[in-house]
Amino acid sequence: MNIIICPTAEAASLRAADMITEAVRKRPETVLGLATGSTPTLLYKALIQAHRDGLDFSRVRTFNLDEYHGLAPDHPQSYRRFMEEQLFNHLNLDLANTHVPDGLAKDVAAHCAAYEAEIKAAGGIDIQVLGIGSNGHIGFNEPASSLVSRTRLVALTQQTISDNARFFDAADEVPRHAISMGIGTILEAKRCIMLCFGEHKAKAVRAAIEGGVSQFTPASALQMHPDTTVFLDEAAAADLELKEYYRWSAANQPA
Ligand code: PGA
Repeated sequence: MNIIICPTAEAASLRAADMITEAVRKRPETVLGLATGSTPTLLYKALIQAHRDGLDFSRVRTFNLDEYHGLAPDHPQSYRRFMEEQLFNHLNLDLANTHVPDGLAKDVAAHCAAYEAEIKAAGGIDIQVLGIGSNGHIGFNEPASSLVSRTRLVALTQQTISDNARFFDAADEVPRHAISMGIGTILEAKRCIMLCFGEHKAKAVRAAIEGGVSQFTPASALQMHPDTTVFLDEAAAADLELKEYYRWSAANQPA
């Protein structure tokens, strides 16, 4: 893992945005894996700015990590709606090239298999953006998710339900299930970028980066991925034992 500790979430998001804009510049049909939640919003603002400055997204294809089961795409709290508001509507993406699992899919298993097939048909995900849950989840792969899991219906933990209740009027409105790419699906992305911000993430970050690889901390599976960069702010990095080494290493890359 390449671990980059930045003074603020904003600085970290700008660094992550640079990796994405450089990829899109080099290959206009780049396939992006995208995430929702509070974490990527500054990154998305930076991508919107890059588009205003002239970057073309018309051939970019996107696949989101997850969607709440039971929410229609136009539900105010659906992840499809989140993506439209935070990113899609502000870029010149072709909406037909954007993919978010369908929370209302009737045959969920068939929908999940089709989602995996669409990712494959697109040539796989070039860069997957990830946040980390306070319980160490990536996507909605909660603790005890198989490290080789594929896109499927998952049950949310109480921790995730209470973490996400802030987006809903009441905690009992948070769906109990979601469709999520699996950990095995995520690990097939050519490159992963994980963003971790805030002191409430410090414990999960420590377990993911410096703990053993374990289904108990789904983000630790990224230790097995050959090209993952983790961007942290100071608060999220607070508990890392080798913090000074990561700083030194990031500042002293061989030419
Ligand atoms: P957050 O969620 O960005 O809203 O903190 C991250 C996650 O649960 O993956």
